[in-house]
Amino acid sequence: MDRILITGAVGQIGIELTEGLLSRFPASRVVASDIRSAAGAPADIRYLDITDKAQIARLVMEERIDTIFHLAALLSARGEQNPQLAFAVNLGGLLNVLEVARQHGVKKVIMPSTIGAFGPDTPKIDTPDDTLMRPTSMYGITKLAGELLLDYYSRRSGIDGRSLRFPGIISSRTEPGGGTTDWADDFYRKAVRGEKAICFLRADTRLPFMYMPDAVEALIGLALAERSRLSRSVYNVHSLTLAPTELAKFLQSIFPDFEPLYQPDSRQSIADSWPQSLDDHHARTDWDWSPQYDLQRMTADMLKNLKPKRG
Ligand code: SER
Repeated sequence: MDRILITGAVGQIGIELTEGLLSRFPASRVVASDIRSAAGAPADIRYLDITDKAQIARLVMEERIDTIFHLAALLSARGEQNPQLAFAVNLGGLLNVLEVARQHGVKKVIMPSTIGAFGPDTPKIDTPDDTLMRPTSMYGITKLAGELLLDYYSRRSGIDGRSLRFPGIISSRTEPGGGTTDWADDFYRKAVRGEKAICFLRADTRLPFMYMPDAVEALIGLALAERSRLSRSVYNVHSLTLAPTELAKFLQSIFPDFEPLYQPDSRQSIADSWPQSLDDHHARTDWDWSPQYDLQRMTADMLKNLKPKRG
């Protein structure tokens, strides 16, 4: 990992992954790119439209990139609003990245996949790495196809492609956008501000989650793992499972007035098609994955980071 490119560097994971990489590698070796800019981004953001292969090729050549963290993607709910854009960005963008990687000698491509790659027929508890996968959202379809595409390029073109299936990510730093798991982030922010949270899922909808520092460590840990230790190209990673009613109850012990209003919408059917917990023993064995944050620790850190922003 001599010269690293991050795509989607201004997204929910991108901002904190960029920070995490900058804390380990000299700034001159980390190139952050996105189609948008953001105030307070940890690095200069190079403009990159992932649907434009020539642009990716130019940046990769100019910066002599050998490793790409490919994060640019539309999440599940936004993908349902604009399925064609989700297809173009999520799958077309990945194909562009892999083709450029093949043509210009990029050695390693790391791409997050998701619980959205599973579907309603998948076993919901302790979902294994290898199981029935028939996703029903465009997001899930593009991510599952993306896993296969990454694997195809790894076998055919010698690119070292690595991926992990993330649950919903909770972060104090960057608000998510367009996901089915965004309600959890929103609960923390509304509770701290003393505002009413409107939850778009049913109170009992259990889904897997992870705190952002663990997600960043997972991406960097997988990227740095010895190739010889990896037995597969895509890994489940699990941390904790939460239903809105469980997080609400926990937050009520700190903010007694916090009482969300439940108004399930079309995102409920997306959530209902996803697992509740993942079996991640391959990640634990192959590259020592081990999350550091449970609900208690995550909440303490979230509140410490969110509180100064209070009115
Ligand atoms: N957080 C994502 C979403 O809700 C799941 O990968 O779309």
